[in-house]
Amino acid sequence: MPTNLQPSTFNYLWWQTAVIYQIYPRSYKDTTGNGIGDLRGVIDKLDYLSQTLGVDAIWLSPFYPSPMKDFGYDVADYCDVNPMFGTLADFDELVAEAHQRGLRIIVDWVPNHSSDQHPWFIESRSSRENPKRNWYVWADQPNNWLSVFGGSAWEWDEATGQYYLHSFLKEQPDLNWRNLEVQEAMFNTVRFWLERGVDGFRVDVAHFIMKDPKMRANPPAKEGLAFHRPHGDYDSLSHENDKGHPDTHKIYRRFRTLLDEYSQTAPRMAVGEIHIFDWDEWATYYGTPEAGLEFHLPFNFSLLKTPWEAAAVRRVVDELEAAIPDWAWPNYVLGNHDEGRVATRFGPEQARLAAMLLLTLRGTPTLYYGEEIGMSDVEIPIEQQLDPFGLRVPGWGRDRCRTPMQWSANPNAGFSPEGSATPWLPLAEDWRAINVEAQLEDPTSTLSFYRQLLAIRKENPALRQGSYAPLEGMPEGCFVYQRSEAGQTFTVALNFEPIPQRLSLNGKGRVVLSTHLDRLDKGNLQSFTLRKNEGVMIQMQNAQ
Ligand code: NOJ
Repeated sequence: MPTNLQPSTFNYLWWQTAVIYQIYPRSYKDTTGNGIGDLRGVIDKLDYLSQTLGVDAIWLSPFYPSPMKDFGYDVADYCDVNPMFGTLADFDELVAEAHQRGLRIIVDWVPNHSSDQHPWFIESRSSRENPKRNWYVWADQPNNWLSVFGGSAWEWDEATGQYYLHSFLKEQPDLNWRNLEVQEAMFNTVRFWLERGVDGFRVDVAHFIMKDPKMRANPPAKEGLAFHRPHGDYDSLSHENDKGHPDTHKIYRRFRTLLDEYSQTAPRMAVGEIHIFDWDEWATYYGTPEAGLEFHLPFNFSLLKTPWEAAAVRRVVDELEAAIPDWAWPNYVLGNHDEGRVATRFGPEQARLAAMLLLTLRGTPTLYYGEEIGMSDVEIPIEQQLDPFGLRVPGWGRDRCRTPMQWSANPNAGFSPEGSATPWLPLAEDWRAINVEAQLEDPTSTLSFYRQLLAIRKENPALRQGSYAPLEGMPEGCFVYQRSEAGQTFTVALNFEPIPQRLSLNGKGRVVLSTHLDRLDKGNLQSFTLRKNEGVMIQMQNAQ
């Protein structure tokens, strides 16, 4: 274990003070010229990540062997690297090189389903008598459960005369977690990556793994429910029986025990993809000290569902602060490979403000690649779209947020070498202007802003781990809060509106960063003006 990976001097663990950066490997950096990013591409960018940008951990979306029906979330071998992305030796080098720079590595673990090309499923569907038959979920009759990606969740298997369950594509059969052999085999895949030195796991649709053992039908959705984003037929049912059975928690307690064993040498973590918006139910995925801990962080997706208005955003933050157990640690997310990009959702003027919010709230932030240069969603003509979700459920296409990282104004935006195959998804039209190289030279760029924001966060314990307190009496349209720790206080003032706003703050302070990158004023804060769409961080004098 390199010495630069010791817990911080404040005794917080790395995953509490870290900024996590998500890399979608297909789209980050192509070193072979096949138009698809790879692990060596990530290795090439480690200095950018650790030094230029200044993040602390990277989460890699799946790079495992896969027929790529769901771009890697259909895993055909949990313990290898897809040749398209490199080799296990490349992965080992990536871990070693990352650790040398103090960067942690989080890998994606996809326990709910494998690919239909996984040898376990090939065996399972080979006959009803096969010893692996019960490794997946088979039934004589389908119930009314639906696939997230559209249509029934059951697929008829002609050869053996039964249906199998697939909560996503039919090429992604659900594993039967009630089978102890499956549990053991899947935990062995976790051990495999822990032994290779990974620091953590992001667990795909973590709450899906245990279903109602009686496989009861889902009742109709409750009348009058407002959906943040209508999801076709899937919304017609209340998903009470097809996921999130209480037995799910037993599995994650075992998972945590396994991580804790390995944490004796270096602290490991798990962040669960939990799309649950009832706070109390969401918080159960932390586990409890009495019954057993579960996830270090259940992803908090609430900001993705909240209207981009000061009062609504504040409400969500306050709700999280109220819901989270004292001993547990919060986290926030504004984007990922399944969601629209921030600059497109909130508009380019608000994108920096969103970054300031994400990186100054109490808790671990997860940043999506490309947000640091303000990449936008790319409208992709239907004939070029590849994402099976979008092709099956209109409006849910995710290609738009997975386009190649824009590194430079060189051919292929510096993503693929000159003369390569065409990148797997089209580049954004603005790549000649919006790219890392151009923004590094421009002190007013979004990248320059992110670099300063990340550096200030890293230098100041109040921002990394301090308390959170919202300030009252602020103008409508502004969200203002303080972060304090050990005599240090920062006020973060965010103007969500396209009009200037006057604030009256107590005390004196110094602006250390504005989203507009053009002020460092200090003094009395009695009458303080935020310009339209401006966010500022103020270091307070005489902090209480
Ligand atoms: C959630 C992942 O984030 C998404 O990309 C994937 O399609 C589904 N899980 C199925 O694995």
